[in-house]
Amino acid sequence: MFGTATAAYQIEGAASEDGRTPSIWDTFSHTPGHVLNGDTGDKADDFYHRWQEDLKLIRDLGVNAYRFSIGIPRVIPTPDGKPNEKGLDFYERIVDQLLEYGIDPVVTLYHWDLPQYLNENPQTDGWLNRDTAYRMAEYAGIVAKRLGDRVHTYTTLNEPWCSAHLSYGGTEHAPGLGGGPLAFRAAHHLNLAHGLMCEAVRAEAGPKPDLSVTCNLQINRGDSDAVHRVDLIANRVFLDPMLRGYYPDELFAITKGICDWEFVRDGDLELIHQPIDVLGLNYYSTGLLAMSDRPQFPQSTAASTAPGASDIDWLPTKGPHTEMGWNIDPDALYNTLVRLNDDYDHIPLVVTENGMACPDKVEVSADGVKAVHDGDRIDYLSRHLDAVHRAIDEGSNVIGYFVWSLMDNFEWAFGYSKRFGLLYVDYDSEERIKKDSYNWYRNFIAEHSAK
Ligand code: BGC
Ligand code: BGC
Repeated sequence: MFGTATAAYQIEGAASEDGRTPSIWDTFSHTPGHVLNGDTGDKADDFYHRWQEDLKLIRDLGVNAYRFSIGIPRVIPTPDGKPNEKGLDFYERIVDQLLEYGIDPVVTLYHWDLPQYLNENPQTDGWLNRDTAYRMAEYAGIVAKRLGDRVHTYTTLNEPWCSAHLSYGGTEHAPGLGGGPLAFRAAHHLNLAHGLMCEAVRAEAGPKPDLSVTCNLQINRGDSDAVHRVDLIANRVFLDPMLRGYYPDELFAITKGICDWEFVRDGDLELIHQPIDVLGLNYYSTGLLAMSDRPQFPQSTAASTAPGASDIDWLPTKGPHTEMGWNIDPDALYNTLVRLNDDYDHIPLVVTENGMACPDKVEVSADGVKAVHDGDRIDYLSRHLDAVHRAIDEGSNVIGYFVWSLMDNFEWAFGYSKRFGLLYVDYDSEERIKKDSYNWYRNFIAEHSAK
């Protein structure tokens, strides 16, 4: 499976059209100080109106899968939980068009746009509230019922680490609570939502669906004790309950004193531990850790999103970095795919996101042809695809790879300042311009896909 990926809030725009109501990201981006330059997703790539043109560009890329997310506040805009037909119709049109082009729709159910009505009291609602997991399951069932005869692959959550640690531990993502160890409470409710959503999709989708979850593992190098601890706090807090049915005892041990885990109720782990068909991995870069000689909580962003790691330092990484300031480390992708294969019983793996932000510039030739020469992105993608290839040779069951992203879009706290697309987007005219990487990926797929 070769594909490319996007998410609803990052591309759709049309924030108050056809019955859509705000999500926590609308509220967050409209609150000054949260998103660079005050950018919001109000218009974004205007995909809501330009989807036909964009799906043609996806078709011309030659991918056989497109990963996108359902905008929850478009589909269930009100607290009574009633589906909005216009919202469901929109996603149905996309699915039908993709199928007509021979492209598999890979549907992400939660890519961070929690309806604002589920977060009325930020101190107790949202993912701090257990009930949110049940509401998400109802929503997932509604989507599966409507699209289940045509959509085969569902991802419950995209990057629960971001939804727990960046959103509740830290302040970088909506709702930006900055509550340190409250991240674990959010994490548990996200895990529960994953389990309940799996059940709901399985009940409603008709023929046996492929179920998955996508994690952005925090992959670090450096001091091995520090690496191990961050792995527990950031990665195994999701992977172990979902794939093995328990939280590691060591996780309880290292968080003793900051979290009592009283929110884990009898029976929860059975609900969370659902059989899934695929594990998704979003991979971009690695961190570098050391044990700190400072006795007190270091106030760095990374530390505030890793409660239980107050004596760990995040060091500057070496080598070339992307526009995000992220280092480039394809070997770690190889290592991670091999490790996931070993640790989780040869589970089928998909790299659901991989890509690079570059300082892209449009160049116009004498005859008026526009081009974006993003050789660095091509180099990044080809080195990571090579790492995937090596992992497969080593026995990992990797069945797919998706480039993040189809087109430049709203990069969360960085607004429109960071460009990840294969297509360049001119935000004034909404024109799409093919970058060199678009053409390169098209040729790569043509040469390498199984016939
Ligand atoms: C960044 C987020 C980003 C995420 C991607 C975080 O470190 O701060 O903006 O979406 O990583 O994995
Ligand atoms: C997310 C995307 C984001 C990308 C780059 C991942 O965190 O799933 O939404 O744009 O990484 O930061």
